[in-house]
Amino acid sequence: MNGISRIACARLRHKLMSAQDAAGLIPSGVTVGMSGFTGSGYPKAVPMALASRIEEAHAAGTPFNVRVWTGASTGPELDGALAKADGIELRLPYNSDPIAREKINRGEMEYLDMHLSQVAPMAWEGFLGKLDMAVIEVSGIRADGTLIPSSSVGNNKTWLDCADKVILEVNRWQNAALEGMHDIYYGTALPPHRVPIPLVRPDDRIGEPVLRCDPEKIVAIVETDSPDRNLPFAPPDANAQAIAGHLLEFFRHEVAKGRLPQSLLPIQSGVGNIANAVLSGLIDSPFDDMTAYTEVVQDGMIDLLEAGKLRMASATAFSLSPDKAAHINENMAFFRDRLILRPQEISNHPELVRRLGCIAMNGLIEADIYGNVNSTHIMGSRIQNGIGGSGDFARNGYISIFMTPSTAKQGKISAIVPQVSHVDHITQDVQVIVTEQGLADLRGLSPKKRADVIIANCAHPDYRDALEDYYNRAKIHSYGQQSPSLLGEALSWHQRFVETGTMRT
Ligand code: COA
Repeated sequence: MNGISRIACARLRHKLMSAQDAAGLIPSGVTVGMSGFTGSGYPKAVPMALASRIEEAHAAGTPFNVRVWTGASTGPELDGALAKADGIELRLPYNSDPIAREKINRGEMEYLDMHLSQVAPMAWEGFLGKLDMAVIEVSGIRADGTLIPSSSVGNNKTWLDCADKVILEVNRWQNAALEGMHDIYYGTALPPHRVPIPLVRPDDRIGEPVLRCDPEKIVAIVETDSPDRNLPFAPPDANAQAIAGHLLEFFRHEVAKGRLPQSLLPIQSGVGNIANAVLSGLIDSPFDDMTAYTEVVQDGMIDLLEAGKLRMASATAFSLSPDKAAHINENMAFFRDRLILRPQEISNHPELVRRLGCIAMNGLIEADIYGNVNSTHIMGSRIQNGIGGSGDFARNGYISIFMTPSTAKQGKISAIVPQVSHVDHITQDVQVIVTEQGLADLRGLSPKKRADVIIANCAHPDYRDALEDYYNRAKIHSYGQQSPSLLGEALSWHQRFVETGTMRT
C-alpha cells in the first residue's frame, strides 16, 4: 500500500510535510499530548525530529523543553530521544524508558505518576493545565476526515479534543485491517452531568470505530513506516511458573467454592513477564469461555484466544513481542472481532471494573507484612515505572491479586518487608499476594492474621526468620497492637541495603 492511500481525505492532503517541518511547529515551553501506550501507537518521527531540534537549540545556548503527556509508556524514539536531549520539563502519567527514568531519579526531570483512568478526566477538568498541541499516530485518515486509531488508543480522544493544534503521524507499518477494532466512546462528561457508562459486558461496543478531529486544528500530517517498540517476553522461569501454579490452584479453589464461575470473571493482567506467564498457564487450565477486561493485550492473551480458552479481550493497547505482533498482523481476520481497543478512561474505568467484577492481577516491588503494596519506588525514593492502571483495577476489582518473586537482585532484597518504603496500594486494596513460595489469601483477615499468613506463605526462607523475629518483638514493644510496628526499625532493612548493598544481616 502506498502512502497516499492511507490519507483518503482529499482536503487534508495538503497538510502533508516532513517530520522536521512538523517538529518546527512545536515551540519551546508548550504542553504536548502524544499518543502511545506500553510501546504501542506512539508517534516516532516527530518526537525524534523535535529532539534534534532541541539538541541544536541547546548547542546554541538556547533553552528549549516541553511538557509531555501520553497514555502510558512509549518508546525510545519518544521518551528516550526527548529525555536524552534534556527536552522534557514535565512528564506524565507513566514512564518505563530507562533514560527518562535516570533523568527523573537524578532530579533533572519532573514526573507526575498518575492513575491511568484519571488522566483524561483531570485534563478535561483543567487540573493539569492547558494542552497546547497533540501529536497522534493513526493508521489512516478516512475520506470524511475521521481518524483510524493505530495499535493503542490511550488518551488520544482527549488530546485531539483538548489541544489547540494537532499533528498527525500516519503510520503505514500499522495494519490497515485494524480499522473496526476500536471502540471510541464519546459519552463521558464532567460532574454534575455524568451519566452511567452503558457497558455491562466486556464485549459490549458502546462507541464508534474512529477518532474525530476538527480539521481546522490539524496543522501537519507526517507519513511514517515505523514499527512499534515490541519487546520479546522472557520464557517463564521457575519463579514465574510457580507463581502461575499457585494462582491457578487458587482459581480452581474459588470455582469449587462457588465464588467464581467456571469461566472465571473478566481478567485484568498487568505488565511484565510474570503476568504473561500466568496467562500462559491458563491455557492448560480447566477454565473456558474466559474474557479479559484489561489495559494491555500481551502475548499470553493471544495464545489463549487462539486456543479457544479466551472468548475476547478488551484493552486500550497491545503490548506484544515482535513475533506475536507479526502473527496478529498476518491473522487479523481472526483477531479483529475478538479484540476491542478503547480509550484508557474506559478500559480502566473504576465504575466498569467494579461492575464487571474484574480479577485484577498486578506485579509489585515490595509488600509489607500487613499487605500494603509498593508498586513504584525502589528503596522509597527511586521511581521504577509508575502506578499505571494497577490502582484502577486493584481498588475496584472483584479480587485484587499482587504477584512477585519473593526476592530481587539475586536474593539481596526481600520483596516482603516489615514496612513498605512507599505505599501505592493500601492493605484494604490488596486481597491476595502470591510469590513462588506460596499464596496468601488475605480476605477477611485482620492485620495480625495477615502478617502470620504473609510471612509463612510468601516470604523467602532466607528472610522468614528475620521477619518473624521483627513481628514477634513488635507484638511486645509496639506503641499499639492493631498493626504492631517498631518505628525505629521498620525501614531498617531498606537502610541496610542502601548502606551495604544487601538487606541480609
Ligand atoms: N527492590 C529493588 N528492585 C526491585 C524490587 C525490589 N523489591 N522488585 C523488583 N525490582 C526490580 C527488578 O530487579 C527489576 O530490575 P531490572 O529491570 O534492573 O532487572 C525491575 O524491578 C522489574 O522487576 P521484575 O521482577 O522484572 O518484575 P516485573 O517486570 O513484573 O515488574 C513492577 C514489576 C512492579 C516494576 C511492574 O509490575 C510495574 O511497573 N508495576 C506498576 C504498574 C502496573 O502495575 N501496571 C499494570 C497495570 S494494568
